[in-house]
Amino acid sequence: MATVHVNLGNRSYDVLCDYGLLQSTAKIIREAGLQGKAAIITDSNVAPHYLAAVTSQLESEGYSTSSHIVTAGEASKSLINLETLCREMTQQGHDRSSYVIALGGGVVGDLAGFVASVFYRGIPFVQIPTTIVSLVDSSVGAKPE
Ligand SMILES: NC(=O)c1ccc[n+]([C@@H]2O[C@H](COP(=O)([O-])OP(=O)(O)OC[C@H]3O[C@@H](n4cnc5c(N)ncnc54)[C@H](O)[C@@H]3O)[C@@H](O)[C@H]2O)c1
Repeated sequence: MATVHVNLGNRSYDVLCDYGLLQSTAKIIREAGLQGKAAIITDSNVAPHYLAAVTSQLESEGYSTSSHIVTAGEASKSLINLETLCREMTQQGHDRSSYVIALGGGVVGDLAGFVASVFYRGIPFVQIPTTIVSLVDSSVGAKPE
């Protein structure tokens, strides 16, 4: 497996690249030290392919999860969806120990990242990119403080 370390001081993170990594999602999240409930945010095209696999894997590792499916497409990157997702997460019992998983392309990554940055003033964020754009571009960022 190739690992690219993005060095941002106490905001550093690793980008993991390999075939079949989806099967190791729960193990990787455990090794990253995440303990709380997972909010899996995905879209209506990606969900039928990968959501059940990610959910069942996390639950078999002892994580509780909630799933949040937005309509596929650019229009889903909206403040209305930000509010809806935060409300759904609150209703599903998420708190500051939770973390967000973005399962999808750049739209899901940008939207879920925004949710993770404001929910309880910021909770951990895991990206599982499913398009070329999101693999090589939108899932990797390094904004200065
Ligand atoms: N944050 C950043 O730095 C950054 C950088 C580049 C792009 N972006 C953003 O990323 C978005 C574009 O990314 P994108 O091209 O991934 O768009 P997208 O997320 O809309 O995905 C494109 C389409 O592919 C579908 N899809 C995703 N994964 C699939 C899979 N595995 N199988 C079948 N269908 C799948 C989606 O449902 C969608 O219909 C734009 O909103 C852009 O602004 C952000």
